[in-house]
Amino acid sequence: MNAPAIALPETSRCKRLKAASRREHDGVDERVMAARPFDDRDRYGNFLRVQHRFHGSLLSLYQDEQLNRLLPGLIELSRFAAVEDDLRDLGLPVPAAPRQVCADKAQALGWLYCSEGSNLGAAFLFKQSQRLGLDGTLGARHLAPHLDGRASHWREFVNKLDAISLPCDQEQAVIAGSLAAFDSYRGHLAAVFGE
Ligand code: HEM
Repeated sequence: MNAPAIALPETSRCKRLKAASRREHDGVDERVMAARPFDDRDRYGNFLRVQHRFHGSLLSLYQDEQLNRLLPGLIELSRFAAVEDDLRDLGLPVPAAPRQVCADKAQALGWLYCSEGSNLGAAFLFKQSQRLGLDGTLGARHLAPHLDGRASHWREFVNKLDAISLPCDQEQAVIAGSLAAFDSYRGHLAAVFGE
């Protein structure tokens, strides 16, 4: 006999992810602002170290063949190289490549949702970086908008992520992946800023 289908709420996967991670998002948003990364270039350097840890830990997901089949063009989206260039622009040492996140396919989608969504908030951060004389060609490359613009770039990613077919019982793992990603970001902030 077939197992009974588990009914999913009518909303899309990304809408469910947004709802499930709202509290975690607002927590990291508050913590980033409390760290005052745009007060001076020293603090901004620390912010780059946070970004280096986070985006660096996701490199193997962005490069993963199976994930690139599910999300065509994924490999082009990693901001890790841009973070490294930003560190070099500021004359800061580039830390060793971070340990890679270990996640199965469903969890990986949640991590990528978190990482790609952070491009939206980056609009605000990018503007703030100009107070330090930085821009998309110097020191704030990884915060610069995608050529298509942030909103349409995000919509394209959301459409691809929503279209991936997964067994119902893996949807919870996608959410768990996104929550783990926010949690890791919070950990990187605490480790680097120590506040
Ligand atoms: C000061 C820091 C931040 C600010 C001001 C900020 C702000 C924002 C804003 C304004 C949006 C758009 C919300 C909407 O359209 O409803 C957004 C979306 C998002 N942000 Fe942030 N953000 C920050 C940091 C982060 C960080 C560090 C991460 C991840 C580690 C992150 C992940 C996301 C995600 C995943 C979304 C997409 C939500 C959706 O599904 O629409 N944000 N953020």
